[in-house]
Amino acid sequence: MTDNKEMLKGFTDHSYGPWKKQKDWKAPVCVAKAEGVHLYDEDGKPYIDFSSQFMCSNLGHGNKAIIDAIHRQADELVYVAPVFAHKSGERATAALMSVMPEGLNKFFFSTSGSLANESAVQIIRQCMSPSHKIIARYHSYHGGTASGMTLTGGPRHRFAERDRYGIEGVIFAPDAYCYRCPFGQKYPECNIRCAEYVDHMIKEEGNVAAVFIEPVVGTNGKQVPPPEYLPRLRQICDENGVLLVVDEVMSGWYRTGPAFAVDNWKVKPDILTTAKGCTGSYTPVGITATGGKVTDYYEDNMIYFGFTYTMHPLMMAAIPAAISEYSKLQASGILTRVSKYLQMRLYELQERHECIGDVRGIGHFWALELVKNRKTRELFNVKADKFYKKLLADRIAAEALKKGMFIMSWYDHLTVAPPLIITEEEVDEGIKILDEVLEIADKEVEHTGIPGSRSSEEFIKSLPL
Ligand SMILES: Cc1ncc(COP(=O)(O)O)c(C=O)c1O
Repeated sequence: MTDNKEMLKGFTDHSYGPWKKQKDWKAPVCVAKAEGVHLYDEDGKPYIDFSSQFMCSNLGHGNKAIIDAIHRQADELVYVAPVFAHKSGERATAALMSVMPEGLNKFFFSTSGSLANESAVQIIRQCMSPSHKIIARYHSYHGGTASGMTLTGGPRHRFAERDRYGIEGVIFAPDAYCYRCPFGQKYPECNIRCAEYVDHMIKEEGNVAAVFIEPVVGTNGKQVPPPEYLPRLRQICDENGVLLVVDEVMSGWYRTGPAFAVDNWKVKPDILTTAKGCTGSYTPVGITATGGKVTDYYEDNMIYFGFTYTMHPLMMAAIPAAISEYSKLQASGILTRVSKYLQMRLYELQERHECIGDVRGIGHFWALELVKNRKTRELFNVKADKFYKKLLADRIAAEALKKGMFIMSWYDHLTVAPPLIITEEEVDEGIKILDEVLEIADKEVEHTGIPGSRSSEEFIKSLPL
């Protein structure tokens, strides 16, 4: 690895590294190029990308078709104000209409997942007024802006609350987190109390405008809900006249199998937000998709926000190109084949490493939850440790980087979410490194001799993956 300290000093000294004390902002590697599922440093050393960067480079790196589409658009038209129509926008909206869940028929374009959610909040509050409360969940991440940070139930929420820059009227529901059920229940005897409790909250609270969830949780754990959970939430929202808003910024774009995670359960949301994979991250785009009564509302009411880069022609050019690449991938069968292989290899890994308490996920979207003790399920680090303590998962990820793998760590788990183009051989390459670095945590476990949990296994068996 190149000692790039000097080389990067100008860059890191004069740019803010997100989510860190700035004296800790030292990039570990200077990436010179990226191709397929690998990044390469200045010395040509490869790093397998086992988390698709921030779970966004779904189509891998260096995709020629998308890059060509961006080049063509750069030659044709780079930017016009969002008062004009353009062919790039026309192609993007047509492509989106071909993959969006039925009923979603109008898109507000922005430049990130956070802004897609910020826009959703403005839409919810405007068209549901005077109902304004939004129910989110504890294990969630919805972005780094005022609304996103308030809706986030993960550790980042605490900063928005402490420094009072969040929004009002957000309340939190318990998660569909079966490995650590907040009600101490077991599926199916639980009768999905986590969903029923949302009904209770809506009725007791009053003035609830929306339920805002990640259908499969991303950053905060890759929890896959039981089969009845999302259909029941849909029903509860309908019965109470509340909007169901799904944040598919991370779970969207074939990450869980179909185009969107909600498609697994054939649930139709009122609003869907997305970003990241909608362009494979080749350009920054956020999308807030609406349908039904929300779309209708704006026929006669002004949408009272907007951005200079809404519908930016250059950034939109990557959308149809990415969608066409996704449909080729899906038709080739590689998505299903390799996701099953990945699942099997992760289960094998769990058999060798007692530190893995739960392996859960779906498609190319997995968490390895790390525990000290499989019986008590005690974590090495808890939510309150994030941002304040040295985390075991971070140590593992840092060691993996030295060995040639980029993997995202959170306070309680590692994220295995490689680009969807990954092959079986490349999965093996990553698993080999994981096998080595997980020994760091194995050294600290209390041996119980009991097998690890696979909390999503039964839930995903019934799905048409
Ligand atoms: C579910 C979810 N929502 C929103 C966001 C925010 O997206 P962005 O970082 O593009 O603003 C993220 C980012 O990781 C996310 O995972």
